[in-house]
Amino acid sequence: MRRIVATYSVAAGSLWLAACSGAASPQGPSVAPPPGLGASRCGADLQQRPWCDTRLDAAQRTALLLDAMTLSQKIALMAGDNPTSVINGMPATGVVDGIAELGIPTLFMSDGPVGPREGRATAMPSPMALGASFSPALAERIGATIADEVRNKGNDLVHGPTVDVMRTPLSGRAFETFGEDPYLSSQLAAPWVIGAQSQGVIANVKHFAAYTQEGQIGVPPITALIGGRQLVNAIIDERTLRELYLPPFESAVRDGDAGSMMCAYHAVNGAPTCASAALLQRVLRDEWGFDGFVVSDYYLAVKDTVLSVRNGLEIEMPIGTFYTPLLLELQVRSGLIDEALIDTRVGNILRTLLRFGFFDRADFVADDTRIDQDAHAEVARDAAEQAMVLLHNQRALLPLDLQRTPRIAVIGESATRLPNGGGSSAVMPFAFVTPLDAITARVGSAGTVRYASGESRDDAVALAADADIVLLFAADNASEGVDKRCLSLDCPLLGSSAQDRLIDAVAAANPNTVVILQVAAPVLTPWRERIGALLVAWYPGQESGAALVRVLWGDTDPGGRLPSSFPVAETDTATAANPLRYPGVANQVLHSEGLLTGYRWHDAQGVEPAYPFGHGLSYARFDYSGLQIDVGSAGDRIDARFSVRNSGTRAGWAVPQLYLGLPSPADDIPQPPRVLKGFDKLWLQPGESRRVSLALDARALSYWDVARGTWQVASGCYRIEAGASSRDVPLRAGVLRRDGGEWQVGGC
Ligand code: BGC
Repeated sequence: MRRIVATYSVAAGSLWLAACSGAASPQGPSVAPPPGLGASRCGADLQQRPWCDTRLDAAQRTALLLDAMTLSQKIALMAGDNPTSVINGMPATGVVDGIAELGIPTLFMSDGPVGPREGRATAMPSPMALGASFSPALAERIGATIADEVRNKGNDLVHGPTVDVMRTPLSGRAFETFGEDPYLSSQLAAPWVIGAQSQGVIANVKHFAAYTQEGQIGVPPITALIGGRQLVNAIIDERTLRELYLPPFESAVRDGDAGSMMCAYHAVNGAPTCASAALLQRVLRDEWGFDGFVVSDYYLAVKDTVLSVRNGLEIEMPIGTFYTPLLLELQVRSGLIDEALIDTRVGNILRTLLRFGFFDRADFVADDTRIDQDAHAEVARDAAEQAMVLLHNQRALLPLDLQRTPRIAVIGESATRLPNGGGSSAVMPFAFVTPLDAITARVGSAGTVRYASGESRDDAVALAADADIVLLFAADNASEGVDKRCLSLDCPLLGSSAQDRLIDAVAAANPNTVVILQVAAPVLTPWRERIGALLVAWYPGQESGAALVRVLWGDTDPGGRLPSSFPVAETDTATAANPLRYPGVANQVLHSEGLLTGYRWHDAQGVEPAYPFGHGLSYARFDYSGLQIDVGSAGDRIDARFSVRNSGTRAGWAVPQLYLGLPSPADDIPQPPRVLKGFDKLWLQPGESRRVSLALDARALSYWDVARGTWQVASGCYRIEAGASSRDVPLRAGVLRRDGGEWQVGGC
């Protein structure tokens, strides 16, 4: 028996609950299991088990199997069987026992979006960091890498990606989102799923839908008392749901062909999401054509038996509370649930498993030696580099030059640890070199590195005053289960740290102070005008040290752009100072800001952000020119083309962005001033120029028409803007859509 240590962190670097033991279209396109996976687990006797015949398609095999099953066998598949898996992740985060006599294997599920939670794993940068990368290609690599580890830890399904759009940066799980923009999140959701499923692992996209808060006052990762995630009902108008919160899920289903979806803890518009006919049946299955299975979030997400079965929940996790065999059987026998409905639910599970080759391969074996840790560390490092956002760089302080600044002061206790988000996405890394050690190794004998934790501000100031350059690390704490109380760095989850005052004091002693933030999401930066440079690394994962030295010394370019706006003040966010909006009153959370969260709120209110959505500096310099607009001759489509040129002296990442201001079809259908509708990511050599081509299709030009229940393209002026961020758009054009549907470039 192999010994594996599994963990469940409740707050970055704080409490750890550890347990040690154990060994480790209805048919849809089939997902081939990776080669060399060995024999079928279904059985070879096709007379006895005709559903094991791989010449039949998944739907035919499902029908044969359902025919052979008793009611209690079917019901047994509708709930997990391991109540403690959520705590210790052993041998998986969730287990649904198979039925040996039918050749149905046991289904093992694993967290999560940062890496698996069974023992040690490659700790990837947080999803917010992936959002900052603006790289669908990276999302696919990360999905594939995490799924490879999930598989080699003996699991068949991964609880990821998290594609909820961030509503408030206070959210304890903001780090787990791709940020505040639905388009960016959608562009990353599908490739992540495709990458994961290329490994024969089912992606369980979460948390469906509009799960935006943990609530205030509580013990992470359990629950919060005010506006707690298991208690709240989010009141959201249909258009906001469609345009802001649903698109990433839609993309994961329609473009990514996700096999599974996790419904969330809360209720939306009065219906618990795990029993919502509107979400699970009408939107997910009827409109988007989802043919996989729905899994509940863990404990307290399911609130009803009959409605959940009727409206679309296949599996309750981690055990049945409303889906116990007794309750389900009782409801069927009493006629409240038709057995045909049980067949539909169980059929969805079986057909999906068959589609993924789950019956027709050997077990995925828990064996860490099969994981290529070096290759995976490389993915984590590349991702961390592509995610780092350089917000501010006075006097070209970065990149560093050891000849110019050989005496280096490293300050801040977070330079010596791995800040990460607590809860179900906390990963115990295979390996970790602290940023301080990585910097020391990099400098070697070419300079000096001295360190102060900052606990004594006087010591830190003295060290800073005597250095050529200061690398000042600051971090926040964020965890599943409870939201932050405020956006200040000095508002930690546990304890108190006074980092803002440390930054002010150190920057006063040495203007060459580079602040490196390892944070979940946007924080307040009151000292930003007084420091030399500001680099946001997010929660950068286990390769933070290696990635940081490469970015700081310019071996590569900081590749990230803000996936969420940094506000000047907490009151500048859409949900601030309005308890009805957040954290809710009497557990009702009113989304009265509608679409206007994040940069859409700032733009609509005329509020200056500290750093706008999409912003991020490169060590190169990029010029934007030559915007050319072409409109579709047949139908609603606009093509925008423009040039990006590296006019700097170093190679670097350009992230050209396309924003659209849509016309308001009516006074009561307001439009945000601009929304992201396209982007690209280019590595450009000095002097190199590239033509970027971004298409706005009918969906991109549409708003959700509530009365008609469809996407509609309104008449009026479409303002197209392109450039380097939501507040730096040097290229602009107007395109008029006439009432008859014709388009006129420059007509407005
Ligand atoms: C989280 C899920 C997670 C599950 C299993 C829940 O508390 O909300 O995201 O997958 O636990 O750990």
